[in-house]
Amino acid sequence: MKLHAVEVLERERFGDHTLLRYRWTGAPPEPGQFVMVRVADSAQALDPFLSRPFFAHDYDGEVGSLLFEIRGRGTALLSEEDAGLLVSEPLGRGYTLDGGPVALVGGGVWVSPLKLLARHLTRSGTAHDVYLEIPAAAPEAYETWISENYPDATLVRTEADLDAPQTVLASIGDLSRYAGLYASGPAPMLDAVKRLSEGMVPAQLALRERMACANGSCYGCAVPLWRDGARAYARACVDGPIFPAEVLAW
Ligand SMILES: Cc1cc2nc3c(=O)[nH]c(=O)nc-3n(C[C@H](O)[C@H](O)[C@H](O)COP(=O)(O)OP(=O)(O)OC[C@H]3O[C@@H](n4cnc5c(N)ncnc54)[C@H](O)[C@@H]3O)c2cc1C
Ligand code: FES
Repeated sequence: MKLHAVEVLERERFGDHTLLRYRWTGAPPEPGQFVMVRVADSAQALDPFLSRPFFAHDYDGEVGSLLFEIRGRGTALLSEEDAGLLVSEPLGRGYTLDGGPVALVGGGVWVSPLKLLARHLTRSGTAHDVYLEIPAAAPEAYETWISENYPDATLVRTEADLDAPQTVLASIGDLSRYAGLYASGPAPMLDAVKRLSEGMVPAQLALRERMACANGSCYGCAVPLWRDGARAYARACVDGPIFPAEVLAW
């Protein structure tokens, strides 16, 4: 996969999160697409060995951005001041936009792709509401940043318990008033959205299967789903990472 050296315009750190803005003049990302990213420094060429996948957080005026949590070596290097950046073209299949009104549901630190989605919905005049979870464990700096950057969103504070996804979904109220649900969150939240939306409203879920090649050749990102009534596997990197909830065989 070809990676492009890009100009980093801004690196903002808040808590253990980083927002990276970079100039991107290639194909614009669609909401829900992702890019593969690594640092450009040749000394780090094999450390870590694999590029890391991130959702396109936003794109406007030839400026792309990524929002990520610092988890391990790869994200720590990408957060370092002055680190150069190599970024792929936008990859995968994003959200399908089918008209509104729609609800966007984001969980914890996984809200990233909803920003670009909201931008597209606003541009197309599609009515939408945004519901974002703020987990009890989230640093204060993250909550401040989220409330400033998603000013129209309903923020739902949750405790670190098994009911957190239900708390967020309960804040939405009657799901049937929406023509669609778009979700990006931790696995328990996606699971809850899938179950609650079943038979009521079509939902699309952003999956984060671990990825290696990101071009469909290693099958490292296999996702179980139903195809023609039989259990089969799709590859999140080329068939997703956005999937309709009803096809997922969870
Ligand atoms: C399509 C896609 C889009 C993504 N978009 C974002 C995003 O917008 N923002 C963001 O913060 N993260 C995102 N991720 C997750 C991100 O890629 C990982 O957090 C990152 O690769 C970790 O790299 P690392 O070297 O820092 O950590 P590693 O050392 O590789 O791992 C550190 C810890 O993170 C966990 N981890 C690594 N990858 C994942 C994953 N895919 N899902 C869950 N846990 C993981 C590991 O289990 C380990 O506990 C996305 C993943 C995918 C597949
Ligand atoms: S990451 Fe290799 S097939 Fe998806």
